[in-house]
Amino acid sequence: MKDGLPSAAPGGLEPDTAALRADLDRLWARGRRFFGTELAIMGGAMTWVSERHLVAAISNAGGFGVIASGSMSPDLLAAEIVATAALTQFPFGVNLITMHPQLIALIDVCLAHRVSHVVLAGGIPTAAAIARVRDGGAKVVCFAPALVIARKLVRSGADAIVIEGSEAGGHIGPVSTAVLAQEVLPNLTDVPVFVAGGIGRGEAIVSYLEMGAAGVQLGTRFVCAHESIAHPNFKRAFIRAAARDAVASVQVDPRFPVIPVRALLNPATQRFSQVQREVIERYNRGELTQKEAQLEIEHFWAGALRRAVIDGDTEGGSLMAGQSVGMVTGEQTTRQIFDELVAQALSSLAARRRRSEFALPTGAAASGPAGGQDAAG
Ligand SMILES: Cc1cc2nc3c(=O)[nH]c(=O)nc-3n(C[C@H](O)[C@H](O)[C@H](O)COP(=O)(O)O)c2cc1C
Repeated sequence: MKDGLPSAAPGGLEPDTAALRADLDRLWARGRRFFGTELAIMGGAMTWVSERHLVAAISNAGGFGVIASGSMSPDLLAAEIVATAALTQFPFGVNLITMHPQLIALIDVCLAHRVSHVVLAGGIPTAAAIARVRDGGAKVVCFAPALVIARKLVRSGADAIVIEGSEAGGHIGPVSTAVLAQEVLPNLTDVPVFVAGGIGRGEAIVSYLEMGAAGVQLGTRFVCAHESIAHPNFKRAFIRAAARDAVASVQVDPRFPVIPVRALLNPATQRFSQVQREVIERYNRGELTQKEAQLEIEHFWAGALRRAVIDGDTEGGSLMAGQSVGMVTGEQTTRQIFDELVAQALSSLAARRRRSEFALPTGAAASGPAGGQDAAG
């Protein structure tokens, strides 16, 4: 039992809970159909974290796991797909970074291994890349940072869109999830849209579904899953952190752009600002060309996520995390995380039902909607 409701155990639901679950299933039916899953929740691909164990655990628990291919070679990706398929009979996807020099070869690996859904991330994919995935029989999911780009991607053949707000962990755009959702959800209905960034509880999932989302994508919430191979130090940093600790990286000079990354503040974050200042000083003195200075700044984070996730270096590595890190309070199994999210979603739907009962003519003034909300627990 969580939040006053039993977990969404198939077959064993109390009547009220079963009715609420039916409501939820109607709300995210499009997303469930798109992925062929019990829950319309994608496990956002996280480089080094989203490997076979976590991906299979997410799919086995009813969500849609996605392998983060990061900078993997085609051979490494093929091995990861085979290893993941050995751990789950349920569907899972692969996230490819569009600027990877071997993108087409990586797409072909996904197709050869009959991966059902390919997520093209880290930039706007070309129509040719989208067509390659579709022609090979897989569905294409693309990230859109604005409505106009979402529409363009759909015209290019994207089967679904992810909108990811700046609350998310990792590389981020400038616009918050709440604003992106209002911009895109009412205006893009021809393909399923999944909302990502800052989602840590089931109530938030329901609110985006009610705005028209087909489902959601969560990353930060799964880092401390029992099945995640992230180093215990990395997990500990997440468990200790509050929302305000997950900050976007700082750019000290507009001449030297820094792609914003949201991560937990640590000594490396502070050193990054210092390094930028030193490099820019050397550029100003004529000791470096603009290109050399830019490369030196970009090089600072090379290998930093691996150092933190795999080696557990929480001082010198990159602790990429979203603001929802404040809602990560301990290590849980992936199934427990899903049970909790679904129970919170049902609790939110129950509270809504109670509020609409209060809104009936005679009871409305006496009880008021706030009472219903408090009673939701
Ligand atoms: C440690 C970490 C690594 C990530 N790596 C990637 C990545 O390789 N590719 C990608 O498309 N998104 C990446 N993301 C973003 C997630 O896939 C997901 O969209 C995001 O975490 C959702 O927001 P949330 O963190 O608020 O749940 C990463 C996020 C984190 C926290």
